[in-house]
Amino acid sequence: MGFTTKLFAGALAAGLAAAQPSPDVQNRITAAIEAAAKANSTADLDYTAFVNPFIGTDSINYGDVCPGAAVPFAMVRVTADFTGYAPAGYIDDATQKCRGLSPMHDSGTGSSLGTYGNFEVMPMLCPGGFDTCETTLLGREQYRKNNTDDAYPGYFSLTLDNDIQMEATSTRRAALERFTFPNGTKPYFTIDLANDLPASFKGGVMDIDPENSRITLSGHWGSSFGPTIYTYEAFACYDFEQKFDEYGVWTGDQYGMDAKGLGMTHLNVTQLLYGGTPYQSGALVSFNDSSAPILARVGISYTSVDQACQTAQTEIGGASFEQVLNASKELWNEKLSKVEIDFANTPANITEMFYSSMYRASLTPSNATGEGQGAFANTTSPYFDSLYCSWDTFRTFFPFMSIHSPDVFAQMTENYIDGWRKQGWMPECRANNLPGWTQGGSSGCNIVSQFAISYHDQAQALGVDLSELYEALWTDGEVNPPEWDTLGRQINVYKEYGYVPFAVLDPSSTGRQTREASRTLEYAFEDFGIRQVALLLNKTSDIESYTNRSYYYRNVFDPSVESEGFKGFTQKRYSNGTFFYTDPIDCSPKDTNTSRECSLQADNTVGFFESSSWEYSWYAPHDVAHLIEMMGGNDTFIKRLDHYFDSGYYLAGNEPSFQAPVGYHYANAPANSVKRSRQLVYENFASKTEGLPGNDDSGAMATFLIFHLLGLYPVPSTSHYLTLSPFIPKYTIHNTYMNASTTVTVQGYDPNSIAYPIANGSAVYVKNVTINGKPAASRCYFDFYDTFKVGGDIVIGVTSDFDEANSCDGPVPDSLSTGGFASLR
Ligand SMILES: *[C@@H]1O[C@H](CO)[C@@H](O)[C@H](O)[C@H]1NC(C)=O
Ligand SMILES: *[C@@H]1O[C@H](CO)[C@@H](O)[C@H](O)[C@H]1NC(C)=O
Ligand SMILES: *[C@@H]1O[C@H](CO)[C@@H](O)[C@H](O)[C@H]1NC(C)=O
Ligand SMILES: *[C@@H]1O[C@H](CO)[C@@H](O)[C@H](O)[C@H]1NC(C)=O
Ligand SMILES: *[C@@H]1O[C@H](CO)[C@@H](O)[C@H](O)[C@H]1NC(C)=O
Ligand SMILES: *[C@@H]1O[C@H](CO)[C@@H](O)[C@H](O)[C@H]1NC(C)=O
Ligand SMILES: *[C@@H]1O[C@H](CO)[C@@H](O)[C@H](O)[C@H]1NC(C)=O
Ligand SMILES: *[C@@H]1O[C@H](CO)[C@@H](O)[C@H](O)[C@H]1NC(C)=O
Ligand SMILES: *[C@@H]1O[C@H](CO)[C@@H](O)[C@H](O)[C@H]1NC(C)=O
Ligand SMILES: *[C@@H]1O[C@H](CO)[C@@H](O)[C@H](O)[C@H]1NC(C)=O
Ligand SMILES: *[C@@H]1O[C@H](CO)[C@@H](O)[C@H](O)[C@H]1NC(C)=O
Ligand SMILES: *[C@@H]1O[C@H](CO)[C@@H](O)[C@H](O)[C@H]1NC(C)=O
Repeated sequence: MGFTTKLFAGALAAGLAAAQPSPDVQNRITAAIEAAAKANSTADLDYTAFVNPFIGTDSINYGDVCPGAAVPFAMVRVTADFTGYAPAGYIDDATQKCRGLSPMHDSGTGSSLGTYGNFEVMPMLCPGGFDTCETTLLGREQYRKNNTDDAYPGYFSLTLDNDIQMEATSTRRAALERFTFPNGTKPYFTIDLANDLPASFKGGVMDIDPENSRITLSGHWGSSFGPTIYTYEAFACYDFEQKFDEYGVWTGDQYGMDAKGLGMTHLNVTQLLYGGTPYQSGALVSFNDSSAPILARVGISYTSVDQACQTAQTEIGGASFEQVLNASKELWNEKLSKVEIDFANTPANITEMFYSSMYRASLTPSNATGEGQGAFANTTSPYFDSLYCSWDTFRTFFPFMSIHSPDVFAQMTENYIDGWRKQGWMPECRANNLPGWTQGGSSGCNIVSQFAISYHDQAQALGVDLSELYEALWTDGEVNPPEWDTLGRQINVYKEYGYVPFAVLDPSSTGRQTREASRTLEYAFEDFGIRQVALLLNKTSDIESYTNRSYYYRNVFDPSVESEGFKGFTQKRYSNGTFFYTDPIDCSPKDTNTSRECSLQADNTVGFFESSSWEYSWYAPHDVAHLIEMMGGNDTFIKRLDHYFDSGYYLAGNEPSFQAPVGYHYANAPANSVKRSRQLVYENFASKTEGLPGNDDSGAMATFLIFHLLGLYPVPSTSHYLTLSPFIPKYTIHNTYMNASTTVTVQGYDPNSIAYPIANGSAVYVKNVTINGKPAASRCYFDFYDTFKVGGDIVIGVTSDFDEANSCDGPVPDSLSTGGFASLR
């Protein structure tokens, strides 16, 4: 998701001095990449040294990335929370103030108010003593020292402008925090009970145990992207290494209250009826000695305070900051080294962008296994929070996972199936442990089908029951929930009409009746995902019905609509069959109505979600051949794609645009896709804080970039990978579970081709592809089963001759209606 900024995120703006992070971050990364380029072996490389966690933490394009200390797929990501728009807590903007360091964050979500940020701790100087400490959000906020923020995988540091340094490292559910105060000062800390970033507190309890220097907190909060009637519970357990000097509670508000209770140890806030401005409260403690850093250990739980305390003990115990940090770095090295690259011949900024993206490809969702609450209390399945949202992640995030980590993919697949078991339908946008808003439909269908297509032979060993997986798919495809805004789809009317009709009487269920055109497109591709598994499992009658439903995208295509010389656009449609005209430009970057909102808001009546008809009309990844026909044939299709890119309709940062750059492959013109791939990387991505075109969308953008840098592109819910031109001359992908390594080598790699515009005469276009020494049937695509599943060698020969390379020299990639995807292996 990412509705707040996505449509307005343009090309990379320049100028605004962010003053963060510390220049040491880039210097250190540059030096590490240089050293790796000179090293003769990759055996002892520390891959964390190539990662820049600050990419996407900007206030220009708003990548909304969390640069906090985290282990892969953790529940805890520790970073500082800032004023202003900062949905992941942190923002590089030096004009914003810090309100505290907190252990829970999502990354890249673009939730307008932010998500999590509970249980902040704020170190303070209160020269006037306990009663003079300003503990409220407004009172305690503090600028940071410019050019000092630091982070690398497993580590985060921020120095306030009063010279207090906050550092953090972490495990899956706990963090170790280190606070260094200026010598001679008396350390004070506020520990916040009520505040979270969206100010959604619904009550909670806090206890101070001075004997053990322990503070426990628990409470209820609301969703950051979902119906406000739902609340979740969270629990924290802070243990300070040193003994408190003073301790007490405080309460505050924005009407002037900032009251302290020295010596009090208990707060129980149960009734909060006034909304708007947050009720504030927490603990205030002090220490005598600032000559050594103050250490705080915090455990987080979604089940109980006891579990939070116990987790901190089992995951961290008495380990030192360095020990916890080294363990975290080890976990990151295991993830990052899944892809080894030719460091010596890869441009340094490509290496940095690549491993920074690899990092974000293993940052979320959050592994909350053993911490399920509500319907998931006691579940014996793996449990993940922050599936934020499946509409974003099915396109590239999960396909990327399928080429290197089937074991992790299996856990997440089982988690989607468990959602169906416990709540009736698979999760769509689980956030804060609550069902979040649906965007397209049940995109989980394309995620679990991707797994089934890729690993059906291993599914059982990996803990996934394929017949249950199919039942979950079938339910999402057949059973209309009474409310389809958070789980499932509006499947009753979709089945009846062959599209999601606009303004239809639907007495059996409710939901936000908008986005009819884009929901139809997404539903149809979800049906294709189900069709694929039906085929895999030989569900004979379902194969036919879901194949037919996969074609329903055609039913919202209005051949009569014209825009800028091109004919045939997707439109929403009444139940009587009449199309409802909306200008295909609406909600595109060229929309002249700049006040229109285009996400879930009431004034989005165009029929599309966060997108225009110009953008969404390309969307039928499983049947592009027919789309080409509807749009007037290959030549017109190519011209229309060119117009789409050259006129500024394409939005690299928006998921519905993801499949467009490779559209040329289907019109037998793959050299054009290569050109667009170079262009989109250069115009939208960079190794700097504003280096993403918009929200990272829980790693969707990271994995989109990874595929382009690797010169590959997935067709979701299939085993097909389209061939592009790698930015990296040689790399090896390790699929460790399968004990399979695949090396991709670019033959004739030309460093001058890593540019846009592509330098004249530089070899970049795909001339030939061989797989394990045999020429591929087409230079446009190849199959997962011949490569990443079993390992081997892929050689991509490149040429500077655009025309020579501008055909598939074999079949174009599969489309359903021309006999493609006929069988599975
Ligand atoms: C790498 O190998 C070259 C040639 O064998 C040698 O001169 C160089 O010292 C080696 N570099 C390192 C870092 O080991
Ligand atoms: C820090 O940077 C901000 C933004 O560039 C600037 O406004 C501020 O004056 C700087 N602070 C110091 C102490 O230089
Ligand atoms: C802090 O101050 C104390 C007492 O003045 C002194 O002994 C100690 O060396 C100082 N520590 C540092 C790190 O400056
Ligand atoms: C802190 O110092 C004060 C004054 O010396 C003393 O009374 C108090 O007991 C000390 N507190 C702790 C926890 O050592
Ligand atoms: C908090 O207060 C409520 C209502 O007054 C009470 O039911 C509950 O038991 C209290 N909880 C704790 C932990 O004290
Ligand atoms: C989880 O287990 C507890 C303790 O046995 C029980 O009280 C609770 O009802 C269970 N919750 C669910 C959702 O199964
Ligand atoms: C999630 O946590 C559980 C419990 O520690 C562990 O077994 C599992 O491997 C973890 N999964 C991932 C993807 O990290
Ligand atoms: C698929 O099912 C059909 C009808 O039930 C059966 O005739 C056919 O042999 C099955 N094919 C496979 C590959 O199992
Ligand atoms: C279909 O319904 C719409 C909205 O009521 C109406 O404007 C349109 O004329 C109808 N079309 C037909 C063919 O009756
Ligand atoms: C587009 O080109 C492909 C490959 O040459 C061809 O198979 C296909 O029929 C063409 N499509 C149309 C609509 O002409
Ligand atoms: C990488 O660095 C080179 C050399 O500074 C620069 O020309 C190029 O634009 C950069 N590439 C990207 C994708 O930022
Ligand atoms: C493939 O292309 C490369 C680069 O142009 C060339 O060196 C190689 O000979 C070609 N291989 C085949 C099998 O044609």
